[in-house]
Amino acid sequence: MHRPPVVDRREWLTRSSLAACGLLVGSPRLSSSPPMILGPDGKTDWRAVARQFLIDEGLTYFNAGTYGPAVREVNEIEAREREAMSRDWMSYFVSHHIGATMAKQLARIARFVGASSDGIALLSGTTEAMNVVAGGLDLRAGDEIVTTTHEHQAGIYPWLLAAKRRGCVVRQIPMACPQKSQADILQRFEAAITPRTRVLSFCHIHYTDGAVLPVRELCDLARRRGILSVVDGAQTVGMIDVGIADLGCDVYATSLHKWLSAPYGTGLLWIRPGVQARIWPSVVEGFDGWDTVDRYGDVPTGPGRDFVGQWPAAMQKYAWGALYFAPLIWATLGAIAFHEQLGKTQVESRARELARRLRAGLDAIPGIEVLTPADPAMSAAIVAFRARGLAPRTLSSELRRDHRIVVRTVSHPHIGLDACRVCTHIWNTEEQVDQLLGVLKDKLARTSPGV
Ligand SMILES: Cc1ncc(COP(=O)(O)O)c(C=O)c1O
Repeated sequence: MHRPPVVDRREWLTRSSLAACGLLVGSPRLSSSPPMILGPDGKTDWRAVARQFLIDEGLTYFNAGTYGPAVREVNEIEAREREAMSRDWMSYFVSHHIGATMAKQLARIARFVGASSDGIALLSGTTEAMNVVAGGLDLRAGDEIVTTTHEHQAGIYPWLLAAKRRGCVVRQIPMACPQKSQADILQRFEAAITPRTRVLSFCHIHYTDGAVLPVRELCDLARRRGILSVVDGAQTVGMIDVGIADLGCDVYATSLHKWLSAPYGTGLLWIRPGVQARIWPSVVEGFDGWDTVDRYGDVPTGPGRDFVGQWPAAMQKYAWGALYFAPLIWATLGAIAFHEQLGKTQVESRARELARRLRAGLDAIPGIEVLTPADPAMSAAIVAFRARGLAPRTLSSELRRDHRIVVRTVSHPHIGLDACRVCTHIWNTEEQVDQLLGVLKDKLARTSPGV
């Protein structure tokens, strides 16, 4: 009896991610989507999607904003690539790192984030990206960096280091919490700019209260004033459908190991090609990308030019460490393939739908104050709240210890912010949201009876 060839989901994912970057030669026809995540009605079965993630049975994980769990197959791609690297390092290096291969991989990643590939450097995360930028700019004593009180430490300390080292000034704009409006945010930035301001550095989405900032308007403002705009987009890629080029920023730093579930230690820095001349690299091992001649004053054209010398511009200049990155890049392509087969807009709307459910439930519990803006234009899938009588740190520990629910706290006592933060994503379910709401309701009923 003739049987049609069976392509299982694992094989599908691996093949599709590799085929997508043009690396799999002569691959069989692929099914258009892996069967296990589609319900009988042909629609996405979100419970089946959740099962693709490596999360312990019974653990309710609401912390995509720190680190996203791996998709099982993506993890396998990484392991397989590491093995191949060990088996024959030289062949692996030649087939995975030459300019043309890297260019194809970057083009694929660039398409996913809506940016030109000549601006992309693959790094270990947003922290490294922010450090490359703050450390690479020729800032002078008295130059000002305008940012906010809500930055993640990775978004502020690289500037504070530059300030210590070079005598520049970091201004942290106090943000309202909850945020009032995008107009209010814009107005605060406008008021903080002085003739000495050289950089506006701010988040696309705050990791604290989940507020979505008016990025395009802030970048326009910076451009009008001749100021460099640096966007910390750690909390975006894989959650919202980001198009970096549309934002008008000069620099965009993001993590791939959070909402996208790419392997731990992956992130991306995009620098507008016209701006790259102003930002020095921090690690160099040749003249590629930052100088025009080598140490002998020559411009070699030999075989060495086939490797890093052919990488797209920003990759050459800022991502020397990517020489060791191939298994991570391969697996990142797998994570992208996974998100793309679900559809970026569908991923975003699922994450938002769960956040809306959570928010509605929290709003209905007496004694809980939600700090995330209610306006859908100012929020996405991060919801921060405080509960009367329950210290966030104690609450999050108890949730984990007693109920196996993982949320994180965001604590900035100097600005009066101490809250729990919940990230809802595609591995979460309605039941998990309701479980959290139920536990909170019980706890509040016990700690503040009659509220
Ligand atoms: C806003 C923000 N910036 C930067 C970072 C650091 O990102 P990474 O872990 O990729 O270095 C985080 C991590 O949570 C973050 O939330």
